[in-house]
Formats: sequence, structure tokens, C-alpha cells
Amino acid sequence: MEEIIVYASQAKYPVFIGSLQKIIHQGKVLIISNPKIAGLHLDRLLQNISADEVYISIIPDGECYKNFETLGQILETAFNSRLDRKSLMIALGGGVVSDITGFASAIYQRGIDFIAIPTTLLAQVDASVGGKTGINNHFGKNLVGVFHQPKAVHIDPFFLSTLPEREFRAGVAEIIKMAVCFERDFFLWLQNCDLSTPDSLQTAISKSVRIKAKVVSSDEKEQGVRAGLNYGHTFAHVIENETNYSLFLHGEAVAIGMLMANDLAVALGYLSFEESSEIAALLKKYGLDLDYKIQDIQMFYDKFFLDKKSCFQKIKFVLPAGIGNLIITENAPKEVVMRVLEKWSKK
Ligand code: GLY
Repeated sequence: MEEIIVYASQAKYPVFIGSLQKIIHQGKVLIISNPKIAGLHLDRLLQNISADEVYISIIPDGECYKNFETLGQILETAFNSRLDRKSLMIALGGGVVSDITGFASAIYQRGIDFIAIPTTLLAQVDASVGGKTGINNHFGKNLVGVFHQPKAVHIDPFFLSTLPEREFRAGVAEIIKMAVCFERDFFLWLQNCDLSTPDSLQTAISKSVRIKAKVVSSDEKEQGVRAGLNYGHTFAHVIENETNYSLFLHGEAVAIGMLMANDLAVALGYLSFEESSEIAALLKKYGLDLDYKIQDIQMFYDKFFLDKKSCFQKIKFVLPAGIGNLIITENAPKEVVMRVLEKWSKK
């Protein structure tokens, strides 16, 4: 069992990587999951929980359900079950489940504890660690939410044995994101390894979580370096919004967003064309579909201003500065950004 510690302002917490540990809680527990994951893994989780009472809330599956209505459903179950301030919520699922459970736990009676048990690769390497919680609305992705760190994260690679190939690929995109922005050696390792083998996969999860834990520990509330985890996301969030959160998995949109960011980085001289091609090749190696056609570039551009990183009417872009480094800039000239978007409107 590997244990990685995240240092947050209020408390430090462990991320366990290995076979699911027993969860012992004095008080009530509310498990939040979706029908698919509950069908596959709820029994195993129940066998590993010791608590006074255990309740279950099953929410619909999909990013398009990460909304106020589903949040209301979770809170309704929490109130009906008479959860109190010593109760615990447990997120059993992917990024949607961990984001919305984290948010529900943050606002229920002004905040109770939650534990994340991520079952997708994307949630294991990124979403479940770091305490970003929230929901989407029609203005955009994750625009309503709070920072609320989990009490613990339990990553069991066994859950990935039932993960559909498409979800797996989406998670790999976030792993590649970590490598491009923070660790060149990790990128080179990814170029040469095969993530379909369990050992390599567990190593990739561990390396990603270590990067994430370090970044979050040094910048919990995203005042600086944590924004680096948003490489590709400024573009991806617009893609997801334009397609009603239903066409792409988050990681798939991030992969396309990374290529858009790369085009901007190349245009601004931060990244060579060769490095950009290497990143695209690695995404393709894992079967990510990188096609997208922007319909209306002005509309796409305008949506950047709803990004949470954008302040005082300035768009903040996270761009790779070579492989293994990043730059966060508010000074990308509009005409250069528009040229990149135009290229993507002609695909
Ligand atoms: N997923 C990006 C972050 O946690 O900051």
C-alpha cells in the first residue's frame, strides 16, 4: 500500500494507492454513486465499511447531470437520513461523483467530511485529489463550487478492471497533461511504456498523484502553479459547454484542448513544432480522437471570459513551455488566439 500525503491549509490527508482499505467511521455514512458503478462495486465497498448506519444515494451517470438538480437530490437524501455534522459522505465513482459529492458535503450543514473512492482513471489521477468540488451550469463548467478537501482518498486500481476503454483513454489524457506540464522524464517514460500492463498503469497513477499532491500542497487555492493543472482546460471547457456536456468525456475534451493550447504555444514561441507533434503523437498512441471543428470562433473566444482563471477581462492561458515546463500568460494577443481558433474551424 502506497500512501501519499496532501498538505492542505485546514488539514493534511492521505491518498492510499492499493487494495481498498477498511473505512471505519463512528457516525452515519452516505455513499453517493451512479447506477453503473454501484452495480459493479457497491457490494465490495459495503463489505469494507464499518459505520453506525449506511445510506446510499444513486445519481444519474454523466457530466450533464453534474448540476443543481442532482445536488438537490443528494442533499434531500442527506436530510431524509438525518445526517449530522459527524456524518461522512463517500463518493464512489468518477470525476462527476467526486466533484458533486465533495460539493454536497461542503455545504451540508456548513460542511461535513467526505472520502473519495475514485473508480475511473481520470478521477484517480486528478479529480479526486485536491479538493476542487462543484457543479456545472449553463454558463459553463465547474462555475459553482468550493474548495473542500477530502478526509482521505482511496485509489484501488482494481476498480479500473471494469472501466470501458473510452473512459480509460480519457484518463490517460490527464496523465499526459501532468507529464507535459510538470515532468519531462515522466513524459519520456510514457512514450516508451505500455499503460495496458497493470504495473505500468499503477506506476503512472502513482507518479500522477505525486505530482498532483505536490502542486496542491504548494498552491491549494490555485493562486499560481496549480493553474498548470488546467493545461488544455481553458479550451476544453468551451468544447464541453458547446456540446452540452454530452458529446465528450472530460478527458477527451482536455486532449483536444491540449492540442489547441499547443498551437497557441507554438504561435507564441513557447513550444517547438516538433515538441507539439510529440505530444500529439503520445495522445494518439493511446487512441484519443483529436478531431474537433469550431463552428463559430467569435462565440468560442467569448466563452473564454467565463473561465474561472479569467480576471479583469483578461484570459489566462496555461501553455507548455517546452515539455516538462509551463507558462501561465494573460498576454496572448487576441489576433494570435483567433488565428489558432480559425485553424480549428477549418478542420
Ligand atoms: N483538475 C485540476 C485541479 O485539480 O486543479
